[in-house]
Amino acid sequence: MVAVKELTVGQVAMRSGVAVSALHFYEARGLIRSHRTASNQRRYGRDVLRRVAIIRVAQQVGISLAEIAAAFHSLPEGRTPTREDWNLLSTAWRDGLDHKISQLKKLRDGLTDCIGCGCMSIDKCPLRNKDDRLAREGTGARRLLAP
Ligand code: FES
Repeated sequence: MVAVKELTVGQVAMRSGVAVSALHFYEARGLIRSHRTASNQRRYGRDVLRRVAIIRVAQQVGISLAEIAAAFHSLPEGRTPTREDWNLLSTAWRDGLDHKISQLKKLRDGLTDCIGCGCMSIDKCPLRNKDDRLAREGTGARRLLAP
């Protein structure tokens, strides 16, 4: 099957698994772009599928649309982003993603340990957070929030 260069909104929705209404929402937020045909139909370049795929995965791991939009801002307008363009985006986004990864790891590993939240309900709390001393550092789960 020859990959057509331009897709209708329905074709993008079918291939990406994202509802047409969500595609319109992404477009309204400037995350994806289309152009209009002479009969005022939306048409998308095939590269939109990569953007939509990244939006979906990023949202699934808790990255906000605003963060995604900021990252996509580095992509060129009016031409299909190259691997180099995506590399630039990934470099710019790497620190934020690394931070999220370390937070997720802490959460995963912290669930069986004291998280320094002040509850003193886990057998390890007296050892890790004697007399809730971590409260002096601030609010919340200090041992998860610490850099
Ligand atoms: S888990 Fe809450 S203070 Fe230890």
